[in-house]
Amino acid sequence: MQVVEQIAAVREVIAPVQRAGRSVGFVPTMGALHRGHLDLMETARKECDFVVTSIFVNPSQFAPHEDLTKYPRPKERDLELCQSVGVDLAFYPTVDEMYPRGAVTSVIVDGLSTVLEGAIRPTHFRGVTTVVAKLFGIVTADRAYFGQKDYQQQLIIRTMTRDLNMPLEIRTCPTTRDIDGMALSSRNAYLSPSERTAGLCLSHALQRGAQMAADGVAPGVIAEAMQDDIEATPGVVLDYAVVADPWTLTDLTESQSQMVALVAARVGATRLIDNAIWGPSLY
Ligand code: PAF
Repeated sequence: MQVVEQIAAVREVIAPVQRAGRSVGFVPTMGALHRGHLDLMETARKECDFVVTSIFVNPSQFAPHEDLTKYPRPKERDLELCQSVGVDLAFYPTVDEMYPRGAVTSVIVDGLSTVLEGAIRPTHFRGVTTVVAKLFGIVTADRAYFGQKDYQQQLIIRTMTRDLNMPLEIRTCPTTRDIDGMALSSRNAYLSPSERTAGLCLSHALQRGAQMAADGVAPGVIAEAMQDDIEATPGVVLDYAVVADPWTLTDLTESQSQMVALVAARVGATRLIDNAIWGPSLY
């Protein structure tokens, strides 16, 4: 596996791969890798000839009060994990390489970026789409891999890719969960054992919601039940629990064939999100 810090070096490595007609798969990450990231890399490995990952803790997607400096950066371990799943090229840029002095351009996906996570973190998705657009321009992959865990993020990235005619396919892969149902996230590392137990209320609420949906209960009633379950858990502060249209993220009043349930809550100082798609597979 090659590790490079510069954009020019990424292009030098990838150009001959593409000239030889080989497909390139790309997994963008912020590091602190867990099984969920490795699952994305393994899927890319199966589907593409050459696998690139980026490890970059992107400052523009953190608000000033968020955990940018505290965000874990276990470089050696991350690189070893990438190597272990057969990544060919790891791009590990500095902030100056990605955002040189004078960079003033941002990418904003209107509407979708202002609801749910975007309502709570107003500048977050602008930072995500800006860095992902830059990374797509640097890596020029055929396919990019994202986890369903960040449902709104992957939807916004799909929308950006479509609207800006970016020539790559977005692949959304199932959320990787611990055996007890907890969705894997780099932020789980911040949870104390009792907080982690409390955090299970998110996946439990989604499971209960899924059963209610299967029983034909109206989406608004399911959303209220999920809200009640999460709010009833000591140490957990609910941000939202909704049942929405999977493409527009607008709240549903009536059941439809495909629905997405999205939940978010704070457990101590840590924000957790999770979601479930109900109905035929979307991706
Ligand atoms: O999901 C993440 O880890 C980040 O938001 C991403 C897509 C790598 C952009 O920084």
